[in-house]
Amino acid sequence: MSNPLDKKSQAWSALFSEPMSELVKRYTASVFFDKRLWRADIQGSLAHAEMLAAQGIISVEDLADIRRGMEAISQEIDSGHFAWKLDLEDVHLNIEARLTQLVGDAGKRLHTGRSRNDQVATDVRLWLRGEIDLILQLLADLQKSLVEVAANNTEVILPGFTHLQVAQPVSFAHHLLAYVEMFARDTERFSQVRRRTNWLPLGSAALAGTTYALDRGRVARSLGMVDENGQPQICQNSLDGVSDRDFAIEFTAAASLCMVHISRLSEELILWMSQNFGFIRIADRFTTGSSIMPQKKNPDVPELARGKTGRVLGHLVGLLTLMKGQPLAYNKDNQEDKEPLFDTVDTLKDTLRIFCEMIGGQVHPVTGQKEGGLTVHAQAMEAAARKGYATATDLADYLVRKGLPFRDAHEIVAHAVKAASSRDCDLSELPLSMLQGFHPAIDQDVFEVLSLQGSLNARNTSGGTAPVQVRAQIARHRARLGPA
Ligand code: ARG
Repeated sequence: MSNPLDKKSQAWSALFSEPMSELVKRYTASVFFDKRLWRADIQGSLAHAEMLAAQGIISVEDLADIRRGMEAISQEIDSGHFAWKLDLEDVHLNIEARLTQLVGDAGKRLHTGRSRNDQVATDVRLWLRGEIDLILQLLADLQKSLVEVAANNTEVILPGFTHLQVAQPVSFAHHLLAYVEMFARDTERFSQVRRRTNWLPLGSAALAGTTYALDRGRVARSLGMVDENGQPQICQNSLDGVSDRDFAIEFTAAASLCMVHISRLSEELILWMSQNFGFIRIADRFTTGSSIMPQKKNPDVPELARGKTGRVLGHLVGLLTLMKGQPLAYNKDNQEDKEPLFDTVDTLKDTLRIFCEMIGGQVHPVTGQKEGGLTVHAQAMEAAARKGYATATDLADYLVRKGLPFRDAHEIVAHAVKAASSRDCDLSELPLSMLQGFHPAIDQDVFEVLSLQGSLNARNTSGGTAPVQVRAQIARHRARLGPA
């Protein structure tokens, strides 16, 4: 029995008068990176074959052979015994050729009513859907880690910055929860991308649809490509079905934004752990030393995360550029969608995992407690908050409560800050008599207002930094995210 795929140049006919050169083979092959799609490829093929049998297009015996062959192939690949061949170009032809080797003619019938164009589009969607599910889990874990560190630090006071100048005191927990908001939006975005990824191209065939009476709904249902009501999501235009890569671009856009959030957090961790801030420590296993300066502990992990963000952003631009010049329908250019997409997935997953651990710590095998996460130096944070007149706005608000227009209060406080600064002390360290010299309405009760804690407590609007508000947010996040 002959297998046309034994020599790939014959996979598409005897039309070709000369074989491919080794260089062209290597240039056009994708198997060494697209082999990671193998599970999705087999899953898609089985759904297609079951439908072909149900429609009477292939026999039930053929289907049984295909199932048996795919079972064997899965085991071969899983155990590392599958012989991937560059000559067979990609994951699809490698698996199909092996199937035919194993089960004969049934293997040759599998491709009925299908093209690699709708096959690869289906595979990538199925694979990416699974990866999005993993990413959603990691995003939930990261949010939980941040929420738990926040829960232990609601009363810890951090100088809040604008323009990297001390602005107003904030609860350290409040600051961390800002990132939880970002990652919650990322979660929503990835869920939406998942929904639009989960559409079935199979049935589009090469570009125009097929002459066989396929039951696309059946394939979509068996692959779980359905909406929230269980209705099949089937690509409605065959040209678009084979050539659309919007889902890959949208995914990479969502990943880019998520990495931008991680990059901002990285930048803060790097600043906070520098000697000039001294606000936090990250565990030694996330840092490295220097080969020349013995005293150094460098924040390599956050720095690399910041650097890898550039790489993911590059993949987004790469994918957009890949698509912008392509006429309908499938073009081989599309094979170039995979490496950027795969690298985006790998980079994002690794980064989320490492951040979960760096912030929240690891579960100790004996105690079951998490340890080795972020160490918070509350005193250093508070000392820094005392330095930059962080309660100046509170003094202005105090004068407003005493009846002054805000603009006048603002001006008066500027004078007070100038005076304190020339004496090198905080506003709260100026004697009452002197404060009263700036405005007679100032009284003994001003000192409560000028305290960092008082400043925090006063910002008691929803979304504000008052610890009571922050605790309410923590409760909301815990309820939303489930047990830590
Ligand atoms: N390896 C190809 C890809 O990734 C599969 C589709 C090939 N289709 C074709 N008409 N050459 O896009």
